[in-house]
Amino acid sequence: MTEPNAAIEQAQNTQEAPDALEATQTTAPSHPIHKVLSFVRRSARLDPRLQRAWDNYADTYLLDIAAGNARLDVREGFALSKEYIQSTWGNSNPLIVEIGTGQGENVVAAAAAHPETNFLALEVYDPGVAHTLLLAGKQGLTNIRIAQVNAAELFKVTEPSTIAEVWTFFPDPWPKKKHHKRRIVQSELAGNIHNALADDGVWRIATDIEDYALHVHEVMDHLDGWQNIGTITASLPLEHVGKGNADMAADMPHADFTESERFSGRVLTNFEKKGLEAGRVIHDFTYQAVALR
Ligand SMILES: C[S@@+](CC[C@H](N)C(=O)[O-])C[C@H]1O[C@@H](n2cnc3c(N)ncnc32)[C@H](O)[C@@H]1O
Repeated sequence: MTEPNAAIEQAQNTQEAPDALEATQTTAPSHPIHKVLSFVRRSARLDPRLQRAWDNYADTYLLDIAAGNARLDVREGFALSKEYIQSTWGNSNPLIVEIGTGQGENVVAAAAAHPETNFLALEVYDPGVAHTLLLAGKQGLTNIRIAQVNAAELFKVTEPSTIAEVWTFFPDPWPKKKHHKRRIVQSELAGNIHNALADDGVWRIATDIEDYALHVHEVMDHLDGWQNIGTITASLPLEHVGKGNADMAADMPHADFTESERFSGRVLTNFEKKGLEAGRVIHDFTYQAVALR
């Protein structure tokens, strides 16, 4: 039976983690490589309900692909391939991968609504993984699996043309300027997702943080191999603001950017609800993988 990752380090605040929490690879002790992580490694005890869900459903849904270290790397030698999908899901249906599934509301609802599609939930946080197991298990879904790994690492070992769509909804905002490098949407990940997507595959992104929307446009709009296929226009400030300065953005020069209508395949999660309640605008993006120049 797979156990919750007991090695995850303690840290209290997801957004304001000191840089000291960044992982250090130990392969070259004299010149350690600092890996910038999009999440804070936290230990979390599961309440009895979530522990029961883990005990009941981990064998069915949780993929045994993690290296078992605090960095939540993928185990050495593993590759996400068409053969692995066939043997794990038992078919060759299209695969949709959601990065950072949180409590799992969205990915489980999508899996229930689309039995003809395979779904893979990627989440690092124990209670989120356990809650996703609970939701999937209660419905007895057969087309969803969950992996507790750093998504960025999984895309490094995903074989070309294996995934139909990638979803990243309400990624951790990392509001401080010095933490923008920890935002999960980065050109390196985009390159690996581009490689993993099948023809006409798309990466759907949504955020309620205006500064993150600007970040997505900066990373993605002119990146080789991607086409922004949105159909609506959004006005955004042209400069970044740090934490606590978001109000300043209204007075900054703005420009128009192309974005998408709300993705109809997304259910309202608590993260989106909180954003809406706080009066924030939701930004949806659809980037299609096209041939590299
Ligand atoms: C703000 S929450 C949003 C959750 C969910 N998408 C929603 O809308 O409710 C972001 C989630 O991404 C997860 N996350 C951050 N970086 C990740 C990574 N590199 N791999 C997998 N999950 C990650 C976090 O643990 C967190 O649960």
